[in-house]
Amino acid sequence: MNLLATSNLKNAFPAFETRPELVYLDSASTALVPRPVIERISYYLACEHANSQRGLYQLSVEATALLEQAREAVAKFIHADSANTIAFCSGATEALNLVAYSWLRPQLQRGDNIVLSVAEHHANFLVWQSLCREVGAELRVVGLDKRGYIDVQELEQLCDNQTRLVALTQVSNVLGLVNDIPACAKVARACGAALLVDGAQAVAHMAVDVNKLGCDFYVFSGHKLYAGPGCGVLYVREDKLAKCQPVKLGGGIVVKVSAEGADYIKSIQKFEAGTVNLAAIVALQAAINFVQHIGWSQVKTQQQQLNKVFWNELAHRPWIKTLIERELLAKSEPLLVSFMLDGVHSHDIAALLDQHHIALRAGRHCAEPLHRYYAHKTADNSVAKHTVSTSARASFAMYNQQEDIHALFNALDLAYELFAVNKNK
Ligand code: ALA
Repeated sequence: MNLLATSNLKNAFPAFETRPELVYLDSASTALVPRPVIERISYYLACEHANSQRGLYQLSVEATALLEQAREAVAKFIHADSANTIAFCSGATEALNLVAYSWLRPQLQRGDNIVLSVAEHHANFLVWQSLCREVGAELRVVGLDKRGYIDVQELEQLCDNQTRLVALTQVSNVLGLVNDIPACAKVARACGAALLVDGAQAVAHMAVDVNKLGCDFYVFSGHKLYAGPGCGVLYVREDKLAKCQPVKLGGGIVVKVSAEGADYIKSIQKFEAGTVNLAAIVALQAAINFVQHIGWSQVKTQQQQLNKVFWNELAHRPWIKTLIERELLAKSEPLLVSFMLDGVHSHDIAALLDQHHIALRAGRHCAEPLHRYYAHKTADNSVAKHTVSTSARASFAMYNQQEDIHALFNALDLAYELFAVNKNK
């Protein structure tokens, strides 16, 4: 049977065979892994494993070829101009740290500033905050418009000729909205700043073109793109590469080493000291093939169908609150939805849903500044402050079906009955 030809893509994901009852709504955390990717990793480990870029023997030479083929495939996937813009690392978090210490740290000075948005994941927040403190630079945080998108007008006001970097998420991991990155790129360019885009929540949902986005750096993790853990991608526009100093030092990135010093390679491999995780890298290439085989139009259609069911279900339940006004949010067709139940802590929601085999994330989703922002914004309305400061999040992927959404809302009804209604008695 061609697993990919069926309309129910659950069949391609063995996790649903071993746990048929599973309703998996936590793909923004990590996506489940399809059979072709698992088979690819398995074949690599069984028949192709060797240290790449090290050996002169056949197996190692072939491993090096696999690594470089994967680099080409990722470059094509995000429409980068060449494979020499793609570095492999452990995930988006490591990629962000590499940009911070390889490219920005050597040039950042007291009086400079870095601009990011309040919707950033901690991975795209802490590293810049720490760098600013270390150097005496200023961290500027742009807010969101009333629909929840990065406020481009405010961005314009915050950027100036001392802005060295604008670091923004393409899709917020809490709001699920696709930000207008090309508009933000124009603002960054006008003041001579570089633009970094965190694509962690975008790559599994839409075609990415780094040139159309207008970014200098783009990062994402393979595990959110159905590849399993262990591989992340750092895209560095070629004109920025020369200014990147190697920060993870070790084997495979030198031209010459002596007791007096070392000369480092200039190509993108300068980010890849040590033995790369080739099993994860070939898995990423297999995941890219898998997604491309399904096609973006099917991914989009399915997301739209799920959205329709989700918002229909939500319409009957005024006691479920969203961070953004729900009518506005529904129109934006977010890729995931974070919500609160009046008077119920999000951890209690998650615990009850788990009893019904529904997996979703609850808490602050590594985005505490955003939860604080909305706690502040909603302090005067009916939603209790302590409730707003955390949320439960339902996130979707190509294997989700309408029945998953119905299961979620049936369980939320039970949660509301159990926790909120009793509490109000
Ligand atoms: N970044 C992941 C999330 O948003 C872990 O859940």
